[in-house]
Amino acid sequence: MATLRLGDKAPDFTADSSMGEINLYDYLGDSWGILFSHPADFTPVCTTELGVTAKFKEEFAKRDVKMLALSVDDVDSHKEWIKDINEVNDTTVNFPIIADTDRKVSDLYDMIHPNADDTLTVRSVFIIAPDKTVKLTLTYPASTGRNFYELLRVVDSLQLTANHKVATPANWKNGEDVVVSPAISTKDAVDMFDKGVKEVKPYLRMTPDPTA
Ligand code: BEZ
Repeated sequence: MATLRLGDKAPDFTADSSMGEINLYDYLGDSWGILFSHPADFTPVCTTELGVTAKFKEEFAKRDVKMLALSVDDVDSHKEWIKDINEVNDTTVNFPIIADTDRKVSDLYDMIHPNADDTLTVRSVFIIAPDKTVKLTLTYPASTGRNFYELLRVVDSLQLTANHKVATPANWKNGEDVVVSPAISTKDAVDMFDKGVKEVKPYLRMTPDPTA
């Protein structure tokens, strides 16, 4: 297992899940994907994270993102725990949770960090583009629940910058001004962005979100 880096192909796999056997590439199809691991079933922070993921169903669907969770617990445990997640968060878990009892996927994606815990997965996140390349990796410790608004924000940035010659500045949110790609001259940017270009510095040019 080698560390996955941005731009690498996300390794394909077939694994058991709470919704039956699942193949990553078949499951994702032409959609974006977020593969994320959590340390264990029936734990408090994980219960909130998977509840929020379910509650954000429409936000992920709007962006054509399919969610796929993972822990090393088995399918029966996942199915029992899902009842709790639904009850506690007043939601319905609508995405599969991989039962990685043999740690095959965890190893493939380097989700077990032995100096943190030698058996449980840490809180890893992989955002996978429709071409199956890895676009973002995140690793959080077991004690820190992830910010799912941030995952939506990153997806917005990735989808915008995949289609327009822009980048998104610090703390950017969907609809706010964006940065003109450094590869574009200011003269070309003026022709390209009909909502206007503001040159703050020769290397820092702002333009309204072209999709807003
Ligand atoms: C949790 O999800 O609450 C958790 C899991 C493992 C270690 C610490 C917290």
